[in-house]
Parts: sequence; C-alpha cells; structure tokens
Amino acid sequence: MAATLLPTLSPPASRAAALLLRRTEPKPSPLPASFLRRLLAPAPSPPVRPPTFRSLATMPSAAAAGSRATPDRAGLLMLGIETSCDDTAAAVVRGDGVILSQVVSSQEDLLVKWGGVAPKMAEEAHALAIDQVVQRALDDANVSESDLCAVAVTVGPGLSLCLRVGVHKARKIAKTFRLPIVGVHHMEAHALVSRLVNKDLDFPFLALLISGGHNLLVLAHELGKYVQLGTTIDDAIGEAYDKSARWLGLDMRKGGGPALEQLALEGDPNAVKFRVPMRQHKDCNFSYAGLKTQVRLAIESRNISTDDIPISSATEEDRQQRANIAASFQRVAVLHLEERCQRAVEWALKMKPSIKHFVVSGGVASNQYVRTHLNHIAEKNGLQLVCPPPSLCTDNGVMIAWTGIEHFIAGRFVDPPAVDEPDDMQHDLRPRWPLGEEYSEGRSVARSMKTARVHPSLTSMIQGSAH
Ligand code: KG4
Ligand code: ZN
Repeated sequence: MAATLLPTLSPPASRAAALLLRRTEPKPSPLPASFLRRLLAPAPSPPVRPPTFRSLATMPSAAAAGSRATPDRAGLLMLGIETSCDDTAAAVVRGDGVILSQVVSSQEDLLVKWGGVAPKMAEEAHALAIDQVVQRALDDANVSESDLCAVAVTVGPGLSLCLRVGVHKARKIAKTFRLPIVGVHHMEAHALVSRLVNKDLDFPFLALLISGGHNLLVLAHELGKYVQLGTTIDDAIGEAYDKSARWLGLDMRKGGGPALEQLALEGDPNAVKFRVPMRQHKDCNFSYAGLKTQVRLAIESRNISTDDIPISSATEEDRQQRANIAASFQRVAVLHLEERCQRAVEWALKMKPSIKHFVVSGGVASNQYVRTHLNHIAEKNGLQLVCPPPSLCTDNGVMIAWTGIEHFIAGRFVDPPAVDEPDDMQHDLRPRWPLGEEYSEGRSVARSMKTARVHPSLTSMIQGSAH
C-alpha cells in the first residue's frame, strides 16, 4: 500500500494550531514528546551563520514577515526539500518567515548535454546531490534535524523518478528524528512564497504561475483553496523560451530563459511578425506550441545555421538576426501573457472584488521584461504586483519550507513514518496534480487531448470533496 503524505486531519481545530493556543495547559497528544517540547519551548535565538550558496542580501528580513512574525511562529523551524524537476534544493525557514539557509544544486551540465530534462539522468543527479544539499542547508542554518518541527517535501506535480528522491530523503529524516511530514504542491509553493516576501499579501489574490512545465492562472481564495482560471493547452512559456534559446544557438549553461532574455536586449521586437496565440478564444488559457514552431520556421527561413555556429562565433549580421528573433519571440510570448492576465483580472475581480494583489511567480517570473509588462497590467487594474526575488521565483527549497509552515500551522501534516517502514516503500507521489478545480466559465474549447491519469486537485482533497 502506498503511504500517503497528505493528512486526513481537517481544520479548524488543527493539532498544530491547537497546540500553539494551549501553551499553558498542554494535553496528551499523539505527537512525540520531543516534538511537543520543541513546539512549546521559548523561541530559540536565531542562528547567525549566513548561507554560503546564496547571498542573504536577496532574502526577506524578519521585519518583512510582518504580521506573521509572532513569537510562537518564530519557534518553528521547517526543512524544505525540492526535487520535482532538475534542481535539487533544500532550505531551513523559520515560522515567522526568516530564511536561515537556502541551497540549490542545478543540473546545468545535464541540461546542456541532453537538451532538456531526461528523467533517468535527473533522478541520478538528485540521488547524488540530495544528502549533501540537505546537510548543507542544516549546517548553513546552524541547526540539526532534532531542532526541526517538521519536514516539508514536494510530492507533485513533477517527474515521479525525481519526486521519489526527495520524498525518500524526507521520510528517512522524519523516521529517524520522529518528525511530522508535510507533502507540498510545487505550484502552490511558487504562489505562497510571495506571502513570505510581502507582509501585506492576504487571501484572496490572483496568481500567474509561469515555469518550465506550467502556465497557471489561479484565484487563491484561501490556503489550500484555489480556482483555476486558465492553464496551457500544450506547452508552458518556459518550455518555449528554452527551445527557442536552444534553436538560436545560445549558451544554455545558465538556462535557456535567461540567455534568450539577454540576447533579446540587442534585438528589434517588431522585426519578425509572430502571431499572438489563441486570440479567437476569449478565455484565460494559454498555448505556446505554435509560437515555438513559428520561431523554428523563422530561423530556418533565414538560413541561420545555429546547429554548427553558436552565438559566440556568429557574424555580426547573423547575431543581429538571432537577436531580432529573440526579441520578437519575447514580445509576443509576453503579450500572450498580458492578454490572458487582463481577462483573468476581470474575472477574478468579478468573483472577489476585495482582491488587491496580483502574484507572478515561477522561473519565468525572474525575467525583467515579463515583470515590467505584468506590472503594467497590475497598475492598470489598481492591483499591486507581488513578484518574489529571482532566487525565490526559480525552483528552491524556501518555497517548500514556507508552504510547509503554512500547512503545518493549519494542522495539515502527517505523523512520522513507522520506525519499521521499509526503505523501498512505495510513496504517494502526484506527478500530474492540479492545484484547483477549473473555473466553469473558463473551460477552453481548444482543450488539449492529454489523457494521462490526473490526481484529484489539492483543493478538492483539502476541501474534502475527493480523496
Ligand atoms: O519554476 P522553475 O525554476 O522550474 C519549473 O518548475 O519548471 O522554472 C524554470 C523555467 C525554465 O524554463 C527557465 O528557462 C525559465 O523558468 N526561466 C526564465 C528565466 N529564468 C528562468 N525564462 C525567461 N527568462 C528568465 N530570465
Ligand atoms: Zn517550479
């Protein structure tokens, strides 16, 4: 039988919340005594060692955690583990939003070699890196496993082979140190990390989540309750950036997206007339497969031999042509985002007029052109754009730890694995896992025909309408 990482326990009288309230009068609890001691103990002084992999300068301060910075929360220490795609990441975050460490090990060499994420290779790379990455996160935070209140780990969506590495590691730590586990939805984590960086960001809010595998527009009603306004019917924008960058012969070592963004600065965004996708469909869904093909055709029709000549050795004229294609692609790719977001803002405000924030997160949200253009959409509609710093937009362990904290406090976690749980136990992974139910008026008629099995959405599981 598969072990589940999602709790059956339901709020409002959640265990963690109840324990926090019952500080003076602890009652017997199914949780281990060591966990109770940690939860009820006074907040430890914050460790002072800065992380070495990423600079603390980009990280939010305790003050930025604002209203959520209560002494009880500051006593919670969460380890977050992320292995859903090509980054092996771990972080330790305090309950009040202070980031104690952040470690990311990327698979750039594999991406260059294989031209994308090859699941088996990625799994091996995660397996090689995971122990070191987690140890480094603990060391940089100056804490040990026994200081933690729980372990949070991505259980989906993502590549099963890769997810398994992180889940296995999380369960091993949880089993040894008797820690609860929080199973985290990767895309929810991309959205919620915005609440760590912006103290004013309360539910409800609108979120655009843009990464290598996902293009989601969601209305976040409350923690664990999302309505999906739009998704991609084929490719995500990050995939289109990555493929276009590769076809343009760019240096993929720092990622296709950043390389294309850089080259586009040298180009004329109106030089190539690409069609804006899906204009005939008055919904909030996305499509990037056609734009990808248009880029391929533009390269071929100009006889640019990108296979043999990398951009670094291109002639000046050839480089200009490639820059024009890059800039034109980016203009249309982002215009497609803008058009769908404008409609989504209108839909969201109709449903929830109290919305004040527009969150944009996921790897592609680290792009400056994207941020500037979506900020216009936010301002035009009287909303505040909340975009995490780039290090928190791309995959990271902080967003997993923080989402773990949010759910842990709401009582959504599972008890530590049984001490005799076998190492080869099958775990409950959710490779295709929607965040919320589709907005009924937003269904695309240009729906993709993907038939792979999909798990019930996070929202339906939490709201108890499906298990
Ligand atoms: O969220 P993320 O780190 O991983 C996934 O969950 O997929 O997103 C990775 C995607 C990649 O496609 C990458 O090329 C893209 O985000 N990306 C960018 C930029 N930085 C990362 N795309 C455009 N411009 C960027 N600056
Ligand atoms: Zn991601």
